[in-house]
Amino acid sequence: MAKGTFGVTTPIYYINAAPHLGTAYTTVAADTITRYQRMNGYDVSFVTGTDEHGQKIAETAEKNAMTPQAWCDSLAPAFTDAWKTLNIDYTNFVRTTEDRQTRAVQKFWGALHDAGWLYKSAYEGWYCVHEETYYAESDLEKNDDGEFVCPDCKRPVRYEASGEENWFFKLSEFQDRLLAFYDEHPDFIRPVTRRNEIVSFVKGGLNDLSISRSSFDWGIPVPWDEGHVFYVWADALIAYLTGIGYGDDEREAEFDGRWPIQYHFVGKDITRFHCVIWPAMLMAAGMPITHTVFGHGFLLTKGEKMSKSKGNGLMPADLVKVFGVDAYRYYFMSDVQFGHDGSISMERMVQVYNADLANTWGNLVSRVTNMTTKYFEGRVPEAPAAAAENPLREIADTLYADYDACMAEVDFTGAAAAVQKLASRVNLYVEESAPWALAKDPARADELAGVLYNCLEAIRIIALYLAPFMPNTSAEVFRRLGLGDIAEVTDIKEATAWGQLPASVAVEVGEPLFPRLDVDNLPEL
Ligand code: MSP
Repeated sequence: MAKGTFGVTTPIYYINAAPHLGTAYTTVAADTITRYQRMNGYDVSFVTGTDEHGQKIAETAEKNAMTPQAWCDSLAPAFTDAWKTLNIDYTNFVRTTEDRQTRAVQKFWGALHDAGWLYKSAYEGWYCVHEETYYAESDLEKNDDGEFVCPDCKRPVRYEASGEENWFFKLSEFQDRLLAFYDEHPDFIRPVTRRNEIVSFVKGGLNDLSISRSSFDWGIPVPWDEGHVFYVWADALIAYLTGIGYGDDEREAEFDGRWPIQYHFVGKDITRFHCVIWPAMLMAAGMPITHTVFGHGFLLTKGEKMSKSKGNGLMPADLVKVFGVDAYRYYFMSDVQFGHDGSISMERMVQVYNADLANTWGNLVSRVTNMTTKYFEGRVPEAPAAAAENPLREIADTLYADYDACMAEVDFTGAAAAVQKLASRVNLYVEESAPWALAKDPARADELAGVLYNCLEAIRIIALYLAPFMPNTSAEVFRRLGLGDIAEVTDIKEATAWGQLPASVAVEVGEPLFPRLDVDNLPEL
């Protein structure tokens, strides 16, 4: 029986190019939380997908001489393939061009229309197609040619004054309710720096939001007004609901059981959509609001935000070829503090790989399984009662509390460090206890058995805690220790209690989990 439901989402990514390290970053983070909360006994929904409508996609398709739908269909596999390569175990992948999304979007906005939250009016103003965002003139910057440019992507913005009548959502009426909501729900926007930005933005006053366009047709039709399609954000945000069954009569009970969810993981550039527009939409619909929007930082390469369009966007698969999928996941989760910007480089990746994975974790598994083979014919020794008191157990006994507290803060770096602390301590324990010396003295056979049992037991526990980060490696370690399928663990707290490794099970040595990498022999980042 699951403890309850738990839900997390990534942004619904624009399908204008294949995913790069930045988009993969959010997706790996969502997967890490998903896997952890499953091990904690929750029934987890993990929604991701592709944002396929809007001007940007229509223009990208045109540049490629394709219809928008053909373009989207040709690129969607790049996302599902990348997530497969990264071992992403999402539960729902929503393409916004699917029929179920059309049904959900029309249902949601139809209800807001009926309730009087929408009105029709002429729209005039600045729009950035790349960001699919409206800007007030006061927010714009100017380039060297004196043109107004987007404050986010720095591309020239367009003045849209077609005289077209658009549907508007009365966002301005939500200022007080939003501020009260932020006050009552201090965890809604995290980290706190983003919260402060949003609060001061909302305090500055809100404009109503245009949610439909009639100047182009690549979007979901507005059902009550022919010729209008929904604004791409008014469409994409609804995918969070579609993924868990909203708008589908057969999944109504599922949706009711799953919504509201715990987390939207998003980049800091799209927090306004998620922390201002989205909760106001949900308030207008009378629906509960997601517990937390977590706005993470940017991955920087050579000091610049990495992005597809700047051409400095690397493909995850390139790095997976060098490091393997688990080390890839571990690096981004452990070395780039979630919530902060983080510089990444090949040199640093190699450093972390060699220190944490090759020298600490991989080395530990191989030396301990080797000694088990050498001194106990490859079987887990029976530990004497005296061995139960040991320095590893002391750390292991408090590890769940430390690790879980970090995960609750979405502090992947802290969680990984807590586990590494135990792994390093086991390596030190091996040095201190010198099993090779104990093995020479038959009178100390019990002591030797105790030391190796403790090391193997610590390895079992570390594998459990590292499983959300590195699922394949942990599954392999469990296999080598003759244990069952780690993916079936649904109570990590209980599973990591000391002393559960059964004696006399055959242990396998296997290939090194993380062969050392040589920084001088790697491709350029
Ligand atoms: N389609 C919208 C989201 C709609 S959600 C209802 C969108 N798509 S996107 O493809 O542009 O996704 C961008 C996501 O990737 C954002 O969360 C953004 O912050 C993140 N990243 C893009 N470049 C990034 C880095 N260099 N580093 C980390 N994340 C970055 O916005």
